[in-house]
Amino acid sequence: MEPFEPTIVAFVCNWCTYTAADLAGTSRLSYPKNIRLIRVMCTGMVDPQYVIKALLEGADAVLVSGCHPGDCHYINGNYKARRRIRLLKEILPRFGFEPERLRLTWIGASDGIQFAEIMRDLTSQIRAIGPSQTRQTMII
Ligand code: FES
Repeated sequence: MEPFEPTIVAFVCNWCTYTAADLAGTSRLSYPKNIRLIRVMCTGMVDPQYVIKALLEGADAVLVSGCHPGDCHYINGNYKARRRIRLLKEILPRFGFEPERLRLTWIGASDGIQFAEIMRDLTSQIRAIGPSQTRQTMII
């Protein structure tokens, strides 16, 4: 049996974390291939339904990552995201998901090294938790 490799969906802000991911790539920094990046214009547009849908459709974890507080290009989108993620972490257990399967981070455009480190850390954390219940019940 092959070792468990998590699938992680990452909603990343165009202005910072996506640029950091690009920088990590052009700097040839290695990070796990488990991350599926979805570029959004701001973390403030990440609807809680997107997170729940990703988890229900087989993602083992979801990352939302955007500009540092005070740096949002749309003034307060990241503050809205922070409030939503806090509430989502409270309701995720009702869907059968551990709150650790959802993470919010701030990664600036020049933080390619930090991006790679966070991707490695998140992937190893989810490997330790194991596959999500949804994935275990899915017939692939
Ligand atoms: S523009 Fe990056 S989080 Fe709002």
